[in-house]
Amino acid sequence: MAILVTGGAGFIGGNFVLDWLAQSGEPVINVDKLTYAGNLETLKSIDGNPAHLFVKADIGDRAVIGELLRTHQPRAVINFAAESHVDRSIDGPGEFIQTNVVGTFNLLESVRGYWNELDEAARAAFRFLHVSTDEVYGTLEADDPPFSESNAYEPNSPYSASKAASDHLVRAWHHTYGLPVLTTNCSNNYGPYHFPEKLIPLVILNAIAGKPLPIYGDGQQVRDWLFVKDHCAAIRAVLAGGKVGETYNVGGWNEKPNLDVVKTICGILDELKPRTDGLSYAEQIAFVKDRPGHDRRYAIDARKLERELGWKPAETFETGIRKTVAWYLENTQWTANVQSGAYLQWVEKNYADRNS
Ligand code: NAD
Ligand code: TYD
Repeated sequence: MAILVTGGAGFIGGNFVLDWLAQSGEPVINVDKLTYAGNLETLKSIDGNPAHLFVKADIGDRAVIGELLRTHQPRAVINFAAESHVDRSIDGPGEFIQTNVVGTFNLLESVRGYWNELDEAARAAFRFLHVSTDEVYGTLEADDPPFSESNAYEPNSPYSASKAASDHLVRAWHHTYGLPVLTTNCSNNYGPYHFPEKLIPLVILNAIAGKPLPIYGDGQQVRDWLFVKDHCAAIRAVLAGGKVGETYNVGGWNEKPNLDVVKTICGILDELKPRTDGLSYAEQIAFVKDRPGHDRRYAIDARKLERELGWKPAETFETGIRKTVAWYLENTQWTANVQSGAYLQWVEKNYADRNS
């Protein structure tokens, strides 16, 4: 028995692979293209582990994926691979269409070809689990109920539109071809190994480097935050017990305005690594030009997952964010290495004309 994971050198996929191998002896074939967001250093602790096979490949490469599937005969494929940053999707949507839409289509076709050749028992047991986002549901008003699995898809950014398209393909491959699929739609993750172009790691690293903490617009946009290891546990629960063809919303019951998130991080840093001048890191907060089409609020109703599969987040935002800040303070080697030339170029481009 084995599973095949795509995007397992990224933030969530990397955490998933590490947790999987820590908890189970079942081998993982880890397929990742190693874009700017893929980082083998995240997987350093499993170097030489015979249960982990890393393959550098594109999910859209049918020849490579088909051969891997036939050679290793996984009982499940978990698709994390994607372009994942909204600001990059606004700057250049092409890669998002290529990987998230065309890549997912090609992956589904590779998997369908393999699955068709399995014997009856293996076909019945096989699962294709597609990891998606709550952003496919669009934006909420302050008093709207949180997103449930029956909400209409109303994606607003090139990123969320490309993920919505991939979710539709996955659904169609089940209804038309019978492929045994599962889809999870999760809220914003945070935790170790998060690439510092996203709000939480960016703020932690900018703060300790004495740089501004950029808040888009008024900072009152609300996100639901989930500690990444809770997301990994939810995926394991859905893989083990989810009903084929169903979607499951995953969330942390932690709705926070961005400004509150940033102030919380500043408070923890004030305690763990006080500024030498005695002032708070909150002094570094800087309001900058907003993101075009910025969704105002996301919130997740995760009761289906709790009711049907008994999953609940283990961390509150308060416990998870403290662990996360401490992780970034301790793992200076990892953070120094991801802040490479390519990363610095992106930061310069994204924030150049935002300063207000
Ligand atoms: P990430 O950007 O950190 O990692 C993506 C990984 O996919 C990288 O390792 C990258 O090299 C790889 N990849 C990209 N294109 C590829 C391709 N064509 N073929 C093979 N590998 C490729 O993203 P993440 O934050 O870990 O997100 C993982 C998944 O979870 C994505 O599908 C994302 O949409 C979804 N998701 C993310 C969040 C979040 O808050 N980060 C929340 C909900 C859902
Ligand atoms: P991000 O981490 O990019 O995730 P997403 O856009 O998928 O929700 O951003 C989280 C929130 O933080 C989002 O509302 C945009 C905001 N944000 C800032 O205010 N400043 C920043 O520098 C970044 C990167 C994000």
